[in-house]
Amino acid sequence: MRIVLVGPPGAGKGTQAAYLAKNLSIPHISTGDLFRANISQETELGLEAKSYMDAGQLVPDEITIGMAKDRMEQEDAANGFLLDGFPRNVSQAVALDEMLQAASMELDAVLDLEVPEDEVVKRIAGRRICRNDSSHVFHVTYSPPVKDGVCDQCGGELYQRDDDSEDTVRRRLEVYHQQTEPIIDYYKAQGLVTTISAMGPVAEVTQRAMEALPSR
Ligand code: AP5
Ligand code: ZN
Repeated sequence: MRIVLVGPPGAGKGTQAAYLAKNLSIPHISTGDLFRANISQETELGLEAKSYMDAGQLVPDEITIGMAKDRMEQEDAANGFLLDGFPRNVSQAVALDEMLQAASMELDAVLDLEVPEDEVVKRIAGRRICRNDSSHVFHVTYSPPVKDGVCDQCGGELYQRDDDSEDTVRRRLEVYHQQTEPIIDYYKAQGLVTTISAMGPVAEVTQRAMEALPSR
């Protein structure tokens, strides 16, 4: 199954992707996580991406599309994948369609996670992520770790992302409305979009998402 997850920053895309990818036995491909891995490894790509991310802007398509394509071409993605944070504008969506067409593949579903803006701000302000594994995500109020600052799953140190400051979050939301939301109409024209509420307990949102997927 090939799925695209769309939603504003802090909607819970990464949280849901971790469960959905496991349930469906497909890799979770997050361009944000790929950029952060490059930043922590101090690669050239990471250095280039960092200034855009810290400013809450999109990393240029020339960098992003090649990186996403390389990841999708890895062996574990041959039978499907869950894309989180890509595509993020219409030109990336067109590039993805071209990539898939060239490989005689198509998308099965686009899940659009809907959440009010004040909730997004609360979710991002309280988010803590594990340094060892970016799929270990906590929230100081909604899903606190047993021990402050320590990952329940692996004992790793929990940290707050550089782009999670209030000003940058506001900028990321503007960029989402201006550049990312138009891809929802792009995919609606292909009949692929299901909008689901991302409010309520994580497990309930996962259940809604699973029910929204086409049966295989
Ligand atoms: P990216 O890493 O993709 O960030 P984002 O889209 O802004 O989304 P977030 O990771 O902030 O949120 P999320 O929806 O995954 O929420 P989460 O599950 O963590 O991108 C970062 C930057 O990289 C971009 O700004 C851009 O610069 C660059 N970039 C990435 N992709 C790009 C692309 N394709 N093109 C160009 N640039 C690109 O949840 C948030 C919090 O809420 C957590 O604490 C979680 O525990 C909590 N939570 C989750 N679900 C619930 C729930 N149901 N109830 C209560 N709390 C919940
Ligand atoms: Zn961990």
